[in-house]
Amino acid sequence: MAIDTETLRDHGAGSGTPPAVLELDGVSVQFGGLVVVSAVGLELGRGERLALLGPNGAGKTTMFNVIAGDVRPTRGRVRIRGVDCTELPSRVRPGLGVARTYQRTRLMAGLSVQDNLYLAQLGKSGVRHRSLVRRAIDGERRDRAQAIAERLALGHELGTAVGELSHGQQRQLEIGMALVTEPDLLLLDEPASGLSRGERERLTETLLELPADVTLLLIEHDMEVAMAVADRVVVLAQGGLIFNGTPSEVRSDPLVQEIYLGRSGGDGRATAGS
Ligand SMILES: Nc1ncnc2c1ncn2[C@@H]1O[C@H](COP(=O)(O)OP(=O)(O)OP(=O)(O)O)[C@@H](O)[C@H]1O
Ligand SMILES: [Mg+2]
Repeated sequence: MAIDTETLRDHGAGSGTPPAVLELDGVSVQFGGLVVVSAVGLELGRGERLALLGPNGAGKTTMFNVIAGDVRPTRGRVRIRGVDCTELPSRVRPGLGVARTYQRTRLMAGLSVQDNLYLAQLGKSGVRHRSLVRRAIDGERRDRAQAIAERLALGHELGTAVGELSHGQQRQLEIGMALVTEPDLLLLDEPASGLSRGERERLTETLLELPADVTLLLIEHDMEVAMAVADRVVVLAQGGLIFNGTPSEVRSDPLVQEIYLGRSGGDGRATAGS
């Protein structure tokens, strides 16, 4: 099915107030008899930075998969910038300005850093161009790949095969693969997992340096990173949203403390995720 993402992007324009960047309306996901996400409602405005917290198995990644179009909800609607995407496949999302990372890395290990960053940009536009235009666009993509690599301290690794990078560098590159598409809505699934303290600090800096109009939805078990970056926090437990508030409120919410933060080791970090 051919889907014109430019038309989708224009949808909702001219209606006065701009639509929310992301809107989940009564979203539920059921796998067989198991309800994994339960009637979740959520709205994210332009430039908002939202941390999605919750214990292992709470349904966080499944919620991401619904937003990214990899899982179709059993009930409810998903709207991205006013466009109802509930039935639209994941390949439409890049054209709508959505980029995501995965909990487990999906890099192409045999290819170089530069090639990975180049290829990440191809999903955004399916339009065919004449060869001269194509060459110019190609050059822009290479330049953008280099700029992002430098921003993530991978500038000296452009020619390195991804399989030879450290775990931390690979996680950074994954964020780079999302950033290089210049997304409006960035979905990061546990980007701090497995990183050293220094790498977590660099990650936090990278996220704080995002352009102001980028909307961020961040799944993170590392409370230090999440609290430094987020201006709002939601907590998911057994598929349901049990908290929606500020980072300072979440620390003192008794229910959240009981089911989630209560497992913290006392250094401000929750139990590490999978
Ligand atoms: N495709 C699937 N089919 C069946 N069950 C699934 C599927 N995907 C996820 N689940 C189940 O749904 C529940 C929520 O999983 P999910 O991965 O969304 O949790 P999570 O909050 O991301 O956890 P974690 O913090 O460990 O990453 C789990 O019990 C998981 O086993
Ligand atoms: Mg997960």
